Amino acid sequence: MKVLSVASECVPFIKTGGLADVAGALPAALALQGVEMRVLLPGYPEVLRKAGDGDTITEEDDLFGGPARVYFTRAKGFGLYVLDAPHLFRREGTPYLDADGRDWSDNPERFAALSWAGARLAAQGAGGWRPDVLHAHDWQAGLAPLYLQRHFRVHVPTVITVHNVAFHGAAQADRLAALRLDATDFTPEGIEFWGQINALKAGLVFSDRITTVSPTYARELTRPEFGAGLDGVIRARADRLCGILNGIDTDAWDPKRDPDLAKTYSAAAGKAANKVALRAEFGLPDSDGPLCIVVSRMTQQKGLDLLLEALPTLMECGGQLAVLGSGDTALESAWQRAAAENPSVAVRIGYDEALSHRMMAGADAIIVPSRFEPCGLTQLYALRYGTIPVVALTGGLADTVIPANPAALAAGAATGIQFHPVGAQALNLAMFDLCALFSDQKTWGQMRRNAMAQPVGWERSARAYADLYADMVPAQ
Ligand code: ADP
Ligand code: GLC
Repeated sequence: MKVLSVASECVPFIKTGGLADVAGALPAALALQGVEMRVLLPGYPEVLRKAGDGDTITEEDDLFGGPARVYFTRAKGFGLYVLDAPHLFRREGTPYLDADGRDWSDNPERFAALSWAGARLAAQGAGGWRPDVLHAHDWQAGLAPLYLQRHFRVHVPTVITVHNVAFHGAAQADRLAALRLDATDFTPEGIEFWGQINALKAGLVFSDRITTVSPTYARELTRPEFGAGLDGVIRARADRLCGILNGIDTDAWDPKRDPDLAKTYSAAAGKAANKVALRAEFGLPDSDGPLCIVVSRMTQQKGLDLLLEALPTLMECGGQLAVLGSGDTALESAWQRAAAENPSVAVRIGYDEALSHRMMAGADAIIVPSRFEPCGLTQLYALRYGTIPVVALTGGLADTVIPANPAALAAGAATGIQFHPVGAQALNLAMFDLCALFSDQKTWGQMRRNAMAQPVGWERSARAYADLYADMVPAQ
């Protein structure tokens, strides 16, 4: 089985969020299931630098406004196609935003180009390799299934994974022709959404299958509260939809062998010593209360504004909070103010992968108060490091944490704390629960052991993807 994965991010080449972790972990996980997955990525400067050059596979004189080529290389253990289109991707900034934090105005063309290159590879193959399945991720690859059907007119089975339904890849209707789209598809049954072109909708409508990254989010996606306007489209295709839980790379996130634990941290020393180191790194004083962390993008999705309101409760029991994140400037400032006003709160604004590992190793608990969370990865890292997750009851957070309710505690099965409904009041109550559980060190120790015993790797989900692909490909 050969699968082409088309994604806008993939570790270790480029990452802004969990999509990169998933796209980067799948090839190795699937190889163990007999699936050869290759990845197609945009040639951002960082990708070109890290992947190096390779063999040119295809060239185009005019790919949405300039010359482009796709080259192939083997890097970090898997086959990688890079779409090198200098006019679209060779620029500094993030994959999606310019230096001022605004969407690149040509994002529709940039990711139409990625989708086009993916469709072309799937349809025509290259160097003797042709995928049996095209696997598109999120809106950035959403047009690939459409291009395959409409332009290349080859049936290659396609699946789209929704990592986050909030991002649609909208474009003004007057760009239809420029995006190589046909006016006949610009209908409510097709790619039109409130008068605009919608790349994610194209993926949802034109793919053979739809997956998302947890079973609970798969159900949520069919409801208006979570579907971001696309719930009707998804409901209509509910028989094509399934949720496959994300795993984590258990080699990269291994508390026993984590290279990111600097000298002052240690895998062998265990939680107590790492907690001392983490307090020192964040300049937090000694305390008997729980040392909590947040590692997150700072956006509305992540609910960090709710946590600001619940801080006093956490502080009352001697709790502390170390925050690592970046995103909305208003939220960044609010958290910086909270840290300035409160000696028990410390904040680092920025993105720091190594620090995030040290935080997992040193913390007692992680707080993930997301308003919605398709899967969420940080609670999975936390489980592995014996850091108790306090999470909103939504999406993948609901599927990965066993809440400390009386039944689960009596059965000795609890791994964390869940709160519902997702709001400041319930989060505040969860802070009381956290403080109470933490003060009962016997129960807390049991929860930590349970957490660390949870299977958070890829094996089960890789099997589910392999079964899905097998189901999509007609028997030879
Ligand atoms: P999302 O993809 O919605 O941001 P996930 O929990 O799936 O949420 O994935 C987020 C990923 O990004 C995790 O690997 C997390 O550790 C990482 N991350 C987020 N913010 C930061 C940060 N400021 N520094 C380091 N890593 C971060
Ligand atoms: C998205 C979601 C997150 C998920 C990640 C990887 O960014 O917000 O919940 O874990 O994709 O699938």
